[in-house]
Amino acid sequence: MEKKPQSMMCSFLQRLDKERLLGQKALVVWFTGLSGSGKTTIAIDLERRLHELGFKTQVFDADFIRTTINRDLDFTMEGRIENIRRMAAISRLFVEAGLVVICCFISPTRRIRQMARTIIGANDYCEVFVNAPFEVCEARDPKGLYVKARRGEISDFTGIDSPYEAPEHPDLEIRTDQCNVTEAVNQVLDFFLPKIVFKE
Ligand code: ADX
Repeated sequence: MEKKPQSMMCSFLQRLDKERLLGQKALVVWFTGLSGSGKTTIAIDLERRLHELGFKTQVFDADFIRTTINRDLDFTMEGRIENIRRMAAISRLFVEAGLVVICCFISPTRRIRQMARTIIGANDYCEVFVNAPFEVCEARDPKGLYVKARRGEISDFTGIDSPYEAPEHPDLEIRTDQCNVTEAVNQVLDFFLPKIVFKE
């Protein structure tokens, strides 16, 4: 059989090829925080702003993921670990495709976030602590889940009968009880824009 010349040998395109095509540097913006802290609200606005600036993004949001890919998982610590393990692995694939990935998961423990960091790769994992005091999140209660958890209708609820360990050294912390959505998104953009601009 005729041998193919070296130049025609099959090999996968590299991440850099894709980043160059898209004109951006891929990474994962990982939002952690209590339910009701504002992760999804910030992510929606952040993605729209990045899109307007010409960046290609993908959001992974807990409520969608937990009713689709991960609907087989519960909110025990084992269920949460598996939820984050899968989403970190999927995020890694999207980074390899050159995208700016925005993840919104409570990811409640340091161990869980360390796992995400390891799977994604420390250079591509940027942790944003979306921080509002527990009482503020409980008062917001956008989905009525805190009320249900207090009534005992939901178990393993973060901050009530399941732990949340605040990050000790997040890349960025946003106090959503002290700023509005636009200010929060501006803070995130200021921090991340220099990191996602493509440089050869
Ligand atoms: S994580 O702990 O595994 O990271 P994840 O972010 O995917 O959690 O899911 C949290 C979302 O699921 C919350 O925003 C809330 O809407 C919903 N939810 C339902 N049950 C619980 C629960 N027991 N604890 C926390 N969130 C819950």
